[in-house]
Amino acid sequence: MIFVTGGAGFIGANFVLQWLACSQEGVVNLDLLSYAGTLANLRTLEGDARHVFQQGDIADGPLLAALLARHRPRAVIHFAAETHVDRSIRSPQKFIETNVNGSLSLLGAVHAHWSGLPPEQKTAFRFLHVSTDEVYGALGPADPPFTEHSPYAPNSPYAASKAASDHLVRAFGQTYGLPTLTVHSSNNYGPMQFPEKLIPLMITRALSGGSLPVYGDGLQVRDWIHVDDHCAALRAVLAQGAAGAVYNVGAEEQLSNLEVVHAICDVLDELVPTAAGSYRRQLAFVADRPGHDRRYAIDTARVRRETGWAPRWRFAAGIRRTVASYLEQGAWRAGLASSDYQAWLLAQYGQAGTGAPESDR
Ligand code: NAD
Ligand code: DAU
Repeated sequence: MIFVTGGAGFIGANFVLQWLACSQEGVVNLDLLSYAGTLANLRTLEGDARHVFQQGDIADGPLLAALLARHRPRAVIHFAAETHVDRSIRSPQKFIETNVNGSLSLLGAVHAHWSGLPPEQKTAFRFLHVSTDEVYGALGPADPPFTEHSPYAPNSPYAASKAASDHLVRAFGQTYGLPTLTVHSSNNYGPMQFPEKLIPLMITRALSGGSLPVYGDGLQVRDWIHVDDHCAALRAVLAQGAAGAVYNVGAEEQLSNLEVVHAICDVLDELVPTAAGSYRRQLAFVADRPGHDRRYAIDTARVRRETGWAPRWRFAAGIRRTVASYLEQGAWRAGLASSDYQAWLLAQYGQAGTGAPESDR
């Protein structure tokens, strides 16, 4: 089996679904079910014996030891984290607890499990850490994309906490010989993302008639990768990555936030037209995010060369499919009514409200 942490969140759930669609090998899925995780993301696996779900915390050492001893996984894929930059700016402490202390606790338990494996299994074992391009900081307009050798320069508490976890993963490889892999991905989009992040937030608010809050001038650039492509890259790295190696993953689709929001509005104009005119009229420039990284871009040469992976989705088709998936699937909307999400909208944007389409209320 493989052991996944955070497999009820956005990327983790997409990964578990893709894994079980491509393989008969089972998945043990440990997730706390924080505000960002929901079993609704995995409802199509109900009754599937290959998926073993356990609600719990990566900081719970005895629970980790028991799960690892019972299931004896050949690999761990570590997604669990606090992930929203804006939340890290308001409340950094939780990000240290989960992303640093929690990752350390997981590494300790996995190291103890790995130490007791027979030599062949020890060599084949992998700890795959899911990191982010944000640890490299921000690029200027003419800078070359981040490579695996770019220096660390995290600018938000979230990025700093992920950088710390990357260093711990590296240290467990160097000090104890744990066979680790680290993947730095750019911004993911696709189905089942919690609607605090740019793309599902904009879809949700556009449909509810709310404003579309663009930070600053909206010209910040991100490299948007479809979550299916990121998950495929993780599978390729797990299968072929050299122990200790680091891989940057992106789609080489650099777009400004304004271009992304316009693209969403254009798809909605086509799929859900309103008499009032284009959804673009709801766009509102608001105060910038403190310490806002201006640009990310990713050099994917290494992962392409060493694993043969390449992204399949282009943004134009991927965003169309993504908007359609949010219109089709109601499950992700369940979180919108939660008191946590309402409190977040109030704190960050000065207004609560369900954010759900009129038809769902
Ligand atoms: P998410 O916020 O959607 O999901 C995180 C999941 O982790 C949730 O299911 C949550 O319940 C779980 N979790 C949180 N704390 C936990 C704990 N203490 N113990 C067990 N489970 C816990 O996040 P995501 O966007 O799916 O990101 C997954 C990983 O990928 C993260 O490590 C993130 O840093 C990384 N990443 C994300 C992106 C992106 O664009 N979303 C890009 C690059 C890297
Ligand atoms: O680059 C990878 C990272 O991408 C991941 O490590 C993070 O977990 C993930 O949250 C994401 O971070 P970003 O900060 O880039 O994503 P977010 O969706 O929060 O914002 C994307 C861009 O949109 C960013 O420039 C800020 C802007 N934005 C975001 C929100 C929520 C707005 O203009 N308005 C908003 O309301």
